[in-house]
Amino acid sequence: MKGVVLAGGLGSRLFPLTKITNKHLLPVYDKPMIYYPIQTLINAGIEDIMIVTGGNFAGHFLQLLGNGKDFGLKDLNYTYQEGEGGIADALRLVEHFADDEPVCVVLGDNIIENSIRGAADDYRKQGGGAKILVKKVHDPQRFGVPEIDEDKVLNIVEKPAEPKSDYAVIGIYFFDNTVFDIIRTLKPSARGELEITDVNNHYIDRGEMTWAELDGWWTDAGTFESLRHASNLVAQTGANKK
Ligand code: G1P
Repeated sequence: MKGVVLAGGLGSRLFPLTKITNKHLLPVYDKPMIYYPIQTLINAGIEDIMIVTGGNFAGHFLQLLGNGKDFGLKDLNYTYQEGEGGIADALRLVEHFADDEPVCVVLGDNIIENSIRGAADDYRKQGGGAKILVKKVHDPQRFGVPEIDEDKVLNIVEKPAEPKSDYAVIGIYFFDNTVFDIIRTLKPSARGELEITDVNNHYIDRGEMTWAELDGWWTDAGTFESLRHASNLVAQTGANKK
């Protein structure tokens, strides 16, 4: 299984911080944000990693990360997303890198307390389809929200006004290689983006989606409030524990 960190976008919710660098390079307590999703993949046993970036500061990633020596990696792969096409549009760019293998996709602003090794191993045994991780939140309207019936996800709605559960779909996904065919069928949403939620709903319709509840805390870090919250959580308990 290969690993992907999606770290594009303009980070406009964090202006003016993101006028001078990419959102995913801003500090979260004592490290640049992108260190956490990279470590998430490594802790799941995934060392073949591609970073998808975009915007005006793509060179900063190379300066910071190089070939991934600080993480004990042999090398790191990079690609560049033109424009603002959304998460699924960014994922489209890793088809060649994936080379028929499944992928674990981590959004570059998603930070977790513990390891997802167990979920990754379960997905490896699943032998195809997709897997999402969910977490109970007090503000599901901000996220993709699943409707769950025991072991089944019935559907996911992106940022619903009236959420069907108090779970968020977190930004860590496992997909088989058919994800690239699914992306080719997508149409932009109302916000003009190819939505990862639409990708997930395709797998649900095919009966090929499993889910698990994440152990330990999870946060995104794309707003001032969540960025501060992320730094506090990391300072208090540490992140990416094994
Ligand atoms: C994205 C996804 C959403 C998911 C969230 C997790 O939202 O679209 O389904 O719950 O990441 O961080 P965005 O950050 O693009 O608003």
